[in-house]
Amino acid sequence: MGFVSILLFALGCVHCSITCCSSAEVNKHFFPPGFKIGVANAAPQIEGAWNEDGKGETIWDRYAISQPDTIYDHSSPQVASDSYHKWREDLEMVKEMGVDHYRLSIAWARIYPDGYKTDKPNERGVAYYKNLLRSLRALNIEPMVTLYHWDLPQKLQDDFGGWLSPKIVDIFADYARTCFELFGDEVKWWTTINEPKQICELGYGSGVFPPAINLPGVGNYQCAKNVLLAHAKAYHIYDKEFRQKNQGKVSIVIDTIWFEPNTTKPVDIEASERALQFSFGLYGNPVFNGDWPAVVKARVAQRSKQAGLKKSRLPTLSPEEIALINGTHDFLCINHYASHMVSALSDEPPFTDTSFDADIGVNDSIPSEWPKGGEAWFAVWPPGMRKLLVWLKNTYNNPEIVITENGFSDNAGTLEDDHRINYYRDYVSNCLDAIYIDNVNLTGYTAWSILDDWEWRVGYHSLIGMYKVDFNDPNRARTPRKSAGYFTQVAKNRCLVDPKDCVH
Ligand code: BGC
Repeated sequence: MGFVSILLFALGCVHCSITCCSSAEVNKHFFPPGFKIGVANAAPQIEGAWNEDGKGETIWDRYAISQPDTIYDHSSPQVASDSYHKWREDLEMVKEMGVDHYRLSIAWARIYPDGYKTDKPNERGVAYYKNLLRSLRALNIEPMVTLYHWDLPQKLQDDFGGWLSPKIVDIFADYARTCFELFGDEVKWWTTINEPKQICELGYGSGVFPPAINLPGVGNYQCAKNVLLAHAKAYHIYDKEFRQKNQGKVSIVIDTIWFEPNTTKPVDIEASERALQFSFGLYGNPVFNGDWPAVVKARVAQRSKQAGLKKSRLPTLSPEEIALINGTHDFLCINHYASHMVSALSDEPPFTDTSFDADIGVNDSIPSEWPKGGEAWFAVWPPGMRKLLVWLKNTYNNPEIVITENGFSDNAGTLEDDHRINYYRDYVSNCLDAIYIDNVNLTGYTAWSILDDWEWRVGYHSLIGMYKVDFNDPNRARTPRKSAGYFTQVAKNRCLVDPKDCVH
């Protein structure tokens, strides 16, 4: 983003703040007492060491290495940011920032190389995470651990189709139990599965992410059901076998874009609600309210019927399954980066089109004046953060909410990243507005990312770290960007403005 657009962004934000929903200025409040500030990343994006110390192959290893053309810059997660070897240095960076927590993920294939439980988990994999977690504790940084951040052991895909098959549910539950057993003393904050929508829709619906299964309107929903059951089983295992001893909390991480209605017409407001229910509610509703969202059930059933199918493409959740999934949360985790505009479609998409987009049935657009991040979907509109938090509060009965990802990517990777500073300032300011004006029970904020990583299909074309990683250097040198200094100040001052101007 050039200087002019940064300037326009800054001006645009002030303008949005006045006209849309936010207070005109950066929120001056201190974060509430006990509010947790953290930074994050995930195993497949930073660890590298893809086949070291007994780690098994994952679907992303297979995909990127065997089909380099599918990745923007033909890169792969083989080395990534090399955090597997440089983790001590990385923890020092986290410590330097003065944050409360560090969100990381465990690579399933480091614990069980083929995904299946075996008599003994892979010792070297276990040792890696034990060392990491104990060191975090010693540094007084709370670990927040995700069990699954998209890196399915390839064998589970090859043997029975991965998340398409109900077989995955018990296999994931076994893996989750092993992690609770091995690391439960160190970890009080668990999240089971990261962003099920991306796993299911991109992996098994449109097929643009591995395992690249193209079953639109069928595979994504089957996957959704299995992901929810797997999450629920893991939650109940923790509840019954570990909670009393370890006193931790468990949840699932769901992501969504904020869908702002294009106009105040009821049909456009409905379009926004529908998009949110398909995007977040498909997972949020079963976990927080029980069953699929009514609008999702009705639309997929109706579109299936019109296409001549005997039953809905959306699998049913039985009363037992609803009961198993409902309530499996100790807090609500949200990943949020961007907003889009939506409006009602003038014509219903053809019923033969089974894509997720056709099922949602809205016009989705991005205003040209909204600044863009490193990928096409990444449109910056800070008021979307506040609106989303208020929507979550109202839709899920005022839960405790923790933001598990939020941050800004670009393609330039400059060290002078004022645009990223502006992003953090304006998004966090909207979080504070949500807390102080809308009484949202937001208790934590996690910035993504502490360092540049391997950004899936865009490889190293999209850079999102507060620390730059030199991917051309075999040593993967880290250098702080300007935003690292900014975020350190925010974590230290517990406020977005000059400490002398902060108010309680
Ligand atoms: C994912 C991260 C990714 C980030 C930025 C999120 O959807 O959880 O793995 O790095 O988006 O693209």
